[in-house]
Amino acid sequence: MNSPGWIIQQLELGPMMNLVYLLGCPETGIAAVVDPAWDVESILRAVRQQDLRIGHILVTHAHPDHVNGLEEMLEATDAAVWVNAEEMTYTRNMARIYQIPLDFLDRRAQNFHSVSDGEQIMVGNIPVLCIHTPGHSPGSQCFLAGRHLFSGDTLFFGACGRVDLPGSDPSRMWHSLNRKLKILEDDIILHPGHSYGDRSTSTLGEQKRNNPYMQIDSAESFVRAMGAG
Ligand SMILES: [Fe+2]
Repeated sequence: MNSPGWIIQQLELGPMMNLVYLLGCPETGIAAVVDPAWDVESILRAVRQQDLRIGHILVTHAHPDHVNGLEEMLEATDAAVWVNAEEMTYTRNMARIYQIPLDFLDRRAQNFHSVSDGEQIMVGNIPVLCIHTPGHSPGSQCFLAGRHLFSGDTLFFGACGRVDLPGSDPSRMWHSLNRKLKILEDDIILHPGHSYGDRSTSTLGEQKRNNPYMQIDSAESFVRAMGAG
């Protein structure tokens, strides 16, 4: 389902070409921010300009370039933060490497919600499906709202996220791309976590046909192709 009035705004922020998104429900005025990072003031300004109120923060994964605005965002709002359960555990384990201040997570524990594959979040009247897509990180997830897929660092235009980082797993990435995302419908619009490449828009159908990482027929071949096997 898709409603014509849904507000979807993309902001490119920070030195790593991160893409932050607003998803707004026109009927309730409630918005979600996908991966708040780098420039919270710009995000808040965009929300105000759209006459929305932030009720939710959707975290595709917990790498700092996607969540380094989270603390500031929670000082400005009382939003519910939705993180995949595996990413929550992983973040705690990796806090030292990624320099994530866990006291902040504990202090705002009531805002954080762990979600699993297949769970649905309501952003106002917009149903958003959480799809667990591990590979780039253990608890990476994509969010599907109608015909819009927010894919974080799992799927880019013509590429996929790195699988050589701590917590990465190329075999799980193959499964996420070729078993979980490939079964979604072709006309879904892709909203990735970085603006890599020379495209500003693409559909899942286009990626299924042309993205080399969605053409590999087994996890074993994928692992070998990524140089990890
Ligand atoms: Fe990442």
